[in-house]
Amino acid sequence: MNYNVKAMYFSPTGTTGKVVKKLSEEISRHVNENDSIKYINFTSHTERMKPVKFYEDDIVIFGVPVYAGRVPNILLKYLRSIKSRGSLAVAVVVYGNRNYDDALIELKDLLELSGFKVVAACAFIGEHSFSELLAKGRPDKSDLHISESFANKIFNRIKDNAVAGNLTISGNKPYRPYYRPKDKNGNYVDFRKITPKTNSNCIDCKICAKICPMNSISFEDVSIIHGICIKCGACIKKCPVHAKYYDDENYLLHKHELESEFSTRNEPDLFI
Ligand SMILES: Cc1cc2nc3c(=O)[nH]c(=O)nc-3n(C[C@H](O)[C@H](O)[C@H](O)COP(=O)(O)O)c2cc1C
Ligand code: SF4
Ligand code: SF4
Repeated sequence: MNYNVKAMYFSPTGTTGKVVKKLSEEISRHVNENDSIKYINFTSHTERMKPVKFYEDDIVIFGVPVYAGRVPNILLKYLRSIKSRGSLAVAVVVYGNRNYDDALIELKDLLELSGFKVVAACAFIGEHSFSELLAKGRPDKSDLHISESFANKIFNRIKDNAVAGNLTISGNKPYRPYYRPKDKNGNYVDFRKITPKTNSNCIDCKICAKICPMNSISFEDVSIIHGICIKCGACIKKCPVHAKYYDDENYLLHKHELESEFSTRNEPDLFI
């Protein structure tokens, strides 16, 4: 058996990338003679401009974070542009310990529409993009250990040629609407206009402008957001001097609610 193993992910704060890489490494050890992996990290705006195609001898470990209980909607156009001629895929979502709702079933559907045979799927937990407390440090050692044994099961599935068809994944169809936070009076809040602010700690290193997946931070003046902000948390978590922050009352309330209501540890869900 010799498959080309491809690790493909969107991961602004790095947790999805971690899970996808670990799974890919373990799968590659079994199914690729040279134990080599091709990485396609489509977090950057420019990477999402390149067309991608896969063939029958590819197995793609495909990961996205869960945003509002679904596949991030800014990725849909790109995901629909991916072409596969019967390649195998493992669908991976990573969520911040609230819930993955219908994200995994939606990702599996998208991959199948592109022409993949989805052999396995999983939902892992990653430190929440809005918080440094919720699911802190995840995926951790235990999560990565689980991904290792899951990779073994996937290998056995491929080896037995029992690859396509009867995978049943948690989630609703039709998918539920995007999860929406509420304000203190219980009214839904529109987060679209909220953007991170920049304080005087900033040393103008430009890291935030380089890593913003929407290419929305001005290089000339990093305090200016000139495009769409998806609240991915990358500029906040990766700023070396903690100069980026949110001051929006509803955002901070939502963050606080998440941290207090969803602190009980969830474990990965595996489907094969
Ligand atoms: C806009 C947005 C919406 C999110 N919605 C959810 C959600 O519905 N449920 C959940 O558990 N986590 C949610 N999260 C948290 C991320 O899914 C989680 O932190 C993930 O590990 C981030 O992946 P990354 O490190 O690859 O960026 C959301 C994060 C963002 C930025
Ligand atoms: S990453 Fe932080 S320090 Fe660097 S330019 Fe951005 S805000 Fe300033
Ligand atoms: S500006 Fe918004 S989209 Fe860009 S890195 Fe920061 S949080 Fe993410």
